[in-house]
Amino acid sequence: MFRAALKLLVSAAIALAVPALASAQEYPSRPLTMVIPFAAGGPTDVLGRIVAQRLGEVLGQQVVVENVGGAGGGNGSLRVANAPADGYTMVLGTVGTHAQNQTLYKRPLYNAEGDFTPVALLADVPIVLVIRKDLPVKDFKDFVAYTKANAGKMTFASAGAGSASHLACVVFNSAAGLPVTHVPYRGTGPAMQDLQGGRVDYLCDMISTAKPQIDGGAVKPIAILTKDRSPALPNLSSATEEGTKVEAYTWNAIFLPKNAPKAIVDKLNAALVDTMKTPWVQERLAALGAVVVSPDRMTPEYLAKFVNSEIEKWAAPIKASGVQVE
Ligand code: MLT
Repeated sequence: MFRAALKLLVSAAIALAVPALASAQEYPSRPLTMVIPFAAGGPTDVLGRIVAQRLGEVLGQQVVVENVGGAGGGNGSLRVANAPADGYTMVLGTVGTHAQNQTLYKRPLYNAEGDFTPVALLADVPIVLVIRKDLPVKDFKDFVAYTKANAGKMTFASAGAGSASHLACVVFNSAAGLPVTHVPYRGTGPAMQDLQGGRVDYLCDMISTAKPQIDGGAVKPIAILTKDRSPALPNLSSATEEGTKVEAYTWNAIFLPKNAPKAIVDKLNAALVDTMKTPWVQERLAALGAVVVSPDRMTPEYLAKFVNSEIEKWAAPIKASGVQVE
């Protein structure tokens, strides 16, 4: 009797495991979706589209990019947290969506650690403070003095509360003593358009989308907000060099919903490693000022620890800034 029951249990377990194994072996057998949690035309979108194109070639299946903006990247990330964990829906997260918003929001929309399966960290991206081109200032010191004198009348734009562009300006404003009003957008793509149109005064944008606008003279750069200068804009000093100690940056990483099968995570991770090794991907990202991370930082295990340490790292400056979202 006992033997028969055991046999039944074993066969049931095998019957359940075999399709999962088979589906991991066949994965991917249909197109995948990469959710970009910001509007089109911004840095996450630009990097995501480059990665999606090559990832599709590596996997032999199309990777469809879907922009789901709002809530500082929270809406798109939440969509993926609630998607089936079958490896077909991933989100391109940032320091904002998977670290900073966990402290900034009184009630975060999701748990950045518990609701996702980390797959791979892809790139580090410096942030640059850019201003509308007719703001009457010529350099960093001028900008700080002018903004101090006119803070009540000025605004800064961002990709939404809890996004990297928001928190970069929050920590900068707090370090420089600038109480300026925040204007949130669904991504820095639309925020940059309004900066060019002179409807907002400044934006802490990722170098990847700020650089072409700086090079074309559409906006003026004031400082790099990472500690060190970026080789993509070598003549631009950092805020820290100018005497305002700030370290703001972003990164991009791929996450699946929680409980994604390990075999699928490993397959997707290997394909992402191949993608990021591709010379044309590296060249295009380097031209944009994004820095592809070293292979030892591309493992799922590294990303899990990194997200945890980034949440902790950003908690103190966010609390110190006094900014919180209900
Ligand atoms: C941000 O965190 O500010 C985003 O990366 C902006 C964007 O991609 O539009």
